[in-house]
Amino acid sequence: MNGREVRRFRPRFRAGHAAWLLLGGFGLAWGLAGGGLCPSGRAAQRDSGRIEARVDALLRQMTLEEKLGQMTQVDLGALKDRDDLWRLGLGSVLCGGNTDPEDNRPATWRRTVLDCQRLTLQNRLQIPLLFGVDAVHGHNNVLGAVIFPHNIGLGATRNAHLVESAARVTADEMLATGIHWAFAPCLAVARDPRWGRTYESYSDDPALVAELGAAAVRGLQGNAGRDRYGALACAKHYAGDGGTTWGVDQGNTECDEATFRGIHLAPYRAAIRAGVGSVMASYSSWNGVKLHGHRYLLTEVLKGELGFDGFVVSDWAAIDQLHPNYKEAIARAINAGVDMAMIPNGPGQANSYRDYLRYLAELVREGRVPGSRIDDAVRRILRVKMRLGLFDKPYTDETLLARLGSAEHRAVARRCVRESLVLLKNEGRVLPLSSKVRRLHVVGPAADDLGMQCGGWTISWQGGTGTVTPGGTTLLAALRKAVPAGTEVTYSADGTDEAAAAAADVILVVVAEKPYAEMMGDRKELNVPEEDRARVRRARASGKPVVTVLYSGRPLILGSVLEDSHALVAAWLPGTEGDGMADVLLGRAEPVGRLPRVWPRDNQHLSTSEAEADPLFPRGFGLGYARASR
Ligand code: GLC
Repeated sequence: MNGREVRRFRPRFRAGHAAWLLLGGFGLAWGLAGGGLCPSGRAAQRDSGRIEARVDALLRQMTLEEKLGQMTQVDLGALKDRDDLWRLGLGSVLCGGNTDPEDNRPATWRRTVLDCQRLTLQNRLQIPLLFGVDAVHGHNNVLGAVIFPHNIGLGATRNAHLVESAARVTADEMLATGIHWAFAPCLAVARDPRWGRTYESYSDDPALVAELGAAAVRGLQGNAGRDRYGALACAKHYAGDGGTTWGVDQGNTECDEATFRGIHLAPYRAAIRAGVGSVMASYSSWNGVKLHGHRYLLTEVLKGELGFDGFVVSDWAAIDQLHPNYKEAIARAINAGVDMAMIPNGPGQANSYRDYLRYLAELVREGRVPGSRIDDAVRRILRVKMRLGLFDKPYTDETLLARLGSAEHRAVARRCVRESLVLLKNEGRVLPLSSKVRRLHVVGPAADDLGMQCGGWTISWQGGTGTVTPGGTTLLAALRKAVPAGTEVTYSADGTDEAAAAAADVILVVVAEKPYAEMMGDRKELNVPEEDRARVRRARASGKPVVTVLYSGRPLILGSVLEDSHALVAAWLPGTEGDGMADVLLGRAEPVGRLPRVWPRDNQHLSTSEAEADPLFPRGFGLGYARASR
């Protein structure tokens, strides 16, 4: 695709469409009547009944140790003796942000995952393993996988269909490596951009998070209905992770129940309606009570009132935070409603998965954890594994490997990038870069740095700089490919090449946050880094038109960057497909992105509630080329 055919296709409605609509309507009615197309109605009820009967039958055969094994998820890095998989009947394995098989190539991932499955299936009842990974913006741990814009960029698209397509591609690339479970979507409603996980949140508006989160669930799990999943999604982190005071990661969300429900529970209602099969509990607290020990929210609200019938997994060693005595911590988490514990520690380490199994068995025998709670947890886990089809088909289709990182998948990500860009300023209509631009001078180390384009949770937990993964395209490379013949693109990472600046028709400066994840991204202030402000200032001093493109996981305090730029584009953390940015900058696609969250004016008014009174840019703002404002 050379970018030219990316103009947004707007079909005119024709008589033929009417016929399709009529046929489609009949088809839908037939399906809803249980005709079998979409397995709702009678077919779904039959499925559901069959699954519940199979779960009951299996549960009756299980020993206590086998049940507790299902309630245990172990990080691959802690699994030194992989025979524990069948010996202890472990329910799940994950690869956390920094855990990878010996090398990070797709085929190695697949071989490792299938080996774990083969070992697990040697357990007495042949209960299959559920393998999970943080596929939060593509299958982002794996070399060569397509890396999508982080959720804040997808939020700027406001395009639920596109978010669903992106999740579908992610599921395909994840299943290609044998993995069924993505710890996504994050349903945080990030209300303070000082939080290092703001970019994992679609928006500070719960309604937009709900709409796009449900779309991601459908994309990951497929539309087969509640009783059949393509892959398994995981709504996280339940709940209120994005509402902590000052945006402190794993902090305390302080508000009354009506506010908590209106902002932080709303997206979970939508995800449960979309059929999400798992939920991850939040490290954070609500009014001082840790979510992992919050029986009211985890059991009475989530499983009771909201009717969630999948299972709750803890976060990484989050149970340990409930009490200094690990056994007591386990009792509090399981009794509150955690069904599966995510355990990063192995034999020889404190709070290992073997400690967990031993303590939980003691707690049951001492009557401190009721057998009924164990049965409820295991029933939920087995139900989800059966809905995934794991018992019948524990191994995924190897032919999917050929599509991992494919041009077809990259085209979906490229469209996400295009639609995520938000044009904040366009003085003198500097953008789009017209074909009259004969010399384009590009400045800024991030302009040619794939790692900075992708941000955290890319190949490693914190992300990195440089060519972190193969198959991607930096903005500089994309521009060099896409500019019209005869246009020269020069580059100066530090912006000190004055001759090139003097010779240029336009100077494009890329300003960027360095990659980070979770608490490592927590900040007290959000100023654009001084070295970036200096580069934009120097570009402006050249007297040439200045276009600034910003890579960030959140709105930043722009300071002089706004005045010194003729045009300003928020690109968020776009991922591997830099071509999508070139499409917009060169006018092959309109900028359609709109701010998914309010853009604060200064460091004194950073949270949504503070910034909304007098924002630099309101939520929903975004300019187009054809129109001065949207
Ligand atoms: C992390 C994150 C969570 C992630 C989990 C497994 O600490 O909080 O989002 O899914 O651990 O990597």
